[in-house]
Parts: sequence; C-alpha cells; structure tokens
Amino acid sequence: MSERFYSDAALYDRLFPGGVQAVDFYRAAADRQGGCVLELGCGTGQKLIPIASDGHPCVGLELSPHMLAEARRKADERRVEVEWVQGDMREFDLGRSFDLVFVAANSLLHLHEADDLVGCFRSVRRHLAPGARLVFDVFNPSVRMLAQADGVRRRRDALSFVDPDRGVVHVDVAETYDAAAQVTRGTWYFSTATEADFAVAPLEIRSIFPQELPLLLSLGGLRVVERFGTWSRTRLTADAPLQLYVCEAN
Ligand SMILES: C[S@@+](CC[C@H](N)C(=O)[O-])C[C@H]1O[C@@H](n2cnc3c(N)ncnc32)[C@H](O)[C@@H]1O
Repeated sequence: MSERFYSDAALYDRLFPGGVQAVDFYRAAADRQGGCVLELGCGTGQKLIPIASDGHPCVGLELSPHMLAEARRKADERRVEVEWVQGDMREFDLGRSFDLVFVAANSLLHLHEADDLVGCFRSVRRHLAPGARLVFDVFNPSVRMLAQADGVRRRRDALSFVDPDRGVVHVDVAETYDAAAQVTRGTWYFSTATEADFAVAPLEIRSIFPQELPLLLSLGGLRVVERFGTWSRTRLTADAPLQLYVCEAN
C-alpha cells in the first residue's frame, strides 16, 4: 500500500535526508559489533553506505526496486561496495549470518500484521552469528498524537524542501488512525507554486506500543538487551520520540 511512496527515491531522499544522529548511532553499533552488517528495508542506503565506507562488509535488503536502484547509484558514485538484494524482510534467507542486523527509520512499521513482524524477527534470528545483535528504531506512539489524525489535509511546513529541478516543494498530509489495526493511513501531497499535487502517494504506518515489542521479539526467538528513547541513549519514557531497541538471540 506504501509502494508508490517509495517509487521516487530521489524525492524521498530530499524529503527525509536522514539524521546525522541516526547515522552515527548505527555506525557506532557496527563498529562495536565488528564483522558483517545487514540492513533490512535499507532504502537508498542513507545509513548503510556510510557503514560500508567505514570498512564493514554490508548487505542491504529492500523491497522497492526504485529505492534499491538509487542506493546502488549512490554507492557506485561514492565507490563504496555494498551487496544490494531485492527482498521482503517478512521472510528471507540469505544463506549466511551477520554480526549486526539493523532496521532503521520506521521500516519495521511497514509490517502491519503481528505474523509479519514475528516472521521478520524469526528470519533475523536465523541470520545472527554468535554474539550478534539486532538493532532497530521505530517512533514512540503517543495516543494524543494518534488522535490528531482526523483525515483533514494540512500543510507540514517543517517538511518543505528544495528540489533542484522544481524549486521549493511543499508537503501536505491527510491522515486517519485505524485504532483496531493500529495503522495510520495517510495521503501525502507534494506541490510547488506552479504545480499543485505533482505527486500524491499513500503511506500506511503501523504503531507498535512499547509493551508489545518484547513479546513480538520473543515469539521470534529474540530478547531485548537494552532500549532507549533518543539517539543519545536516554531512557524510553512516555514522551520519548523514539523506541530504539538492541536485541540478541534468546
Ligand atoms: C522509511 S524508509 C527507511 C529507509 C532506510 N532504512 C533509511 O533509514 O533511510 C522504509 C523502507 O522500507 C522498505 N520496505 C517496506 N516494506 C518492506 C519489506 N516488507 N521488506 C523490505 N523492505 C521494505 C521501503 O521500501 C522503504 O525503502
């Protein structure tokens, strides 16, 4: 349902240029673990290309051929070697193990069913070398924020960006929250001063609440070693922006 959102990978990179703190966090995790790194839902390689440039053998698994093509183009441009694999993180078999598996920037929230999440965690478990870790970040859902998703189209000024060809791009979003499914269903509208809605794409993102995650992980054969609420490793509290998990095999 969100495939169209990722069909213009260059637009994605301008909309979400990737936070320095997030890149540094995953780079440090790769350095700490040493060895081989696998990113699931790697997108255009915002985190994986810097990690590969640090000297780690890296594999990026990604569903969207458009995101993967942009990742490959950027890595080639920077002369960085990464093995790019088109695949589905719900169930995969790469036939080898890794020292760090990570899932960054809410990619896990594209898995809406509990079975999909458990399937993903089981696949991760099968790919963990002895002592390896799974690290991932998802947003920390606040009921107040979810309740604001009332279906009304609104401008998100903080998301405006400059496209070298089009100029300033404004972003509007209309969202509703399906509480039974725990899924926020949005439509994203991209416009310039001269071209209204030149791109319109649906985006559906699940919420995973903090008490759910240890259970889902344990069904996948994993356990939580540490969890944080920010990139600077502070505690996961009610108003923390993030849920950042470090896990290992059970
Ligand atoms: C929010 S982007 C994050 C990309 C990247 N991790 C980053 O940090 O920039 C989510 C990515 O997950 C990918 N994705 C969604 N469902 C997937 C699946 N089932 N298997 C693999 N990748 C998936 C999307 O195509 C998209 O590239």
